[in-house]
Amino acid sequence: MKSLQHTGRLKGTLSIPGDKSVSHRSILFGAMAKGVTTVEGFLQSDDCLSTIDCVRKFGVDVAVEGESVTITSDGIENWVEPDTILYTGNSGTTTRLLSGVLASTNFASVMIGDESIQKRPMKRVTDPLRQMGADIIGRKGGNFTPLAIQGRELTAIDYPMPVASAQVKSAILLAGIRAEGTTIITELEKTRDHTEKMLRHFGVELDEQDKTISLRGGQTLTPAHIVVPGDISSAAFWLVAGAITKDSEVELANVGLNPTRDGILEVLKNMGADLSFDSADSPSHEEIGTLKIRTSSLRSTEIGGSLIPRLIDEIPIIALLATQAEGTTIIRDAEELKVKETNRIDAVVTELKKLGADIESTEDGMVITGPTPLTGGKITTYGDHRIGMMGAIASLLTSTPIELDDPECIAVSYPTFFDHYSKLTADSH
Ligand code: S3P
Repeated sequence: MKSLQHTGRLKGTLSIPGDKSVSHRSILFGAMAKGVTTVEGFLQSDDCLSTIDCVRKFGVDVAVEGESVTITSDGIENWVEPDTILYTGNSGTTTRLLSGVLASTNFASVMIGDESIQKRPMKRVTDPLRQMGADIIGRKGGNFTPLAIQGRELTAIDYPMPVASAQVKSAILLAGIRAEGTTIITELEKTRDHTEKMLRHFGVELDEQDKTISLRGGQTLTPAHIVVPGDISSAAFWLVAGAITKDSEVELANVGLNPTRDGILEVLKNMGADLSFDSADSPSHEEIGTLKIRTSSLRSTEIGGSLIPRLIDEIPIIALLATQAEGTTIIRDAEELKVKETNRIDAVVTELKKLGADIESTEDGMVITGPTPLTGGKITTYGDHRIGMMGAIASLLTSTPIELDDPECIAVSYPTFFDHYSKLTADSH
């Protein structure tokens, strides 16, 4: 339980911690490559540590020193069969990406996660992997963990994706690297392309034409040096906080600005936020920059279609933002929210309603009318880090304190979140 309230402005500069998606991939790809891979700016969050725990079980050496990680591996072709169950914690990225990798090994493995992972759909990865010849069993015909995978030789597929998911795309690409033939994937909507970008950095060749990606099987990864950009999904909480807390001015350095992830910036601009940014010469294989946000009056917007995958993880905090904007904000085409760490449509609507927001769920999203004053109260996180952070940011607006039932869950993606909250609220006059 944590009680939060703040009644002043927000002021200051934060350097945004490493991107969760990129951090996971740096460990997994480094473990697949034969040799020594080094990582800078790694996010030491619970989710990324789950990926490290798993790859260590294949005989890969991973040395972590703060944000620097050194991975020493004999290459995926020499991984050893794990002698215990692989525990993926709360991490969908670990579970799904690893499924694709494990399908092509020559050993057996079993994966299990926490209560939330046990409820998340896996058929979206086990179906295409089985079409490639993978030998996978799981509860409900392979839809739920635990997943038991007997690695074997795979054959490439030509796969039109039925869902817009970077985790599914990545699982198929990772299986495709060691499959016979050329794997072709066509996306429903363009999703985050960190896998494609990082695989190239590890020397893998892929071809991209609009929403279609082709990857020749039989390639190997060459060890690399990875600089992880800051996570725009973490920055989003402070962008919204700065926009809605009176007289605020917040600067966020080291923010990853990959165009497949920057939907939040488009939404803020459409809503009239006072947002500026400088792109920096990036030391990373991904774009980075500094963002500055000041308080401004906000208007409602409509969010749907191809914008959704570019901001899928930001919808809880965008819903809070919309409670402070003039007019009715409509979020549609976002049914994927129902299968995140919790059902985020239900969780956001229930929790923001408790605080007095005018918000209703729809089949594929939500409708929010603002501006509304918010009162404090008890926020249930449902063990979901992004619901927890949405509740914490609401405490900058509420007349009485916000009580979070499970503040620890925030460490899944942002272990220094409360330090950053204290830093920005310290100078409130
Ligand atoms: C992620 C992809 C997205 C996102 C998740 C991380 C990734 O999930 O919501 O937080 O690292 O590939 P989906 O692939 O299920 O859309």
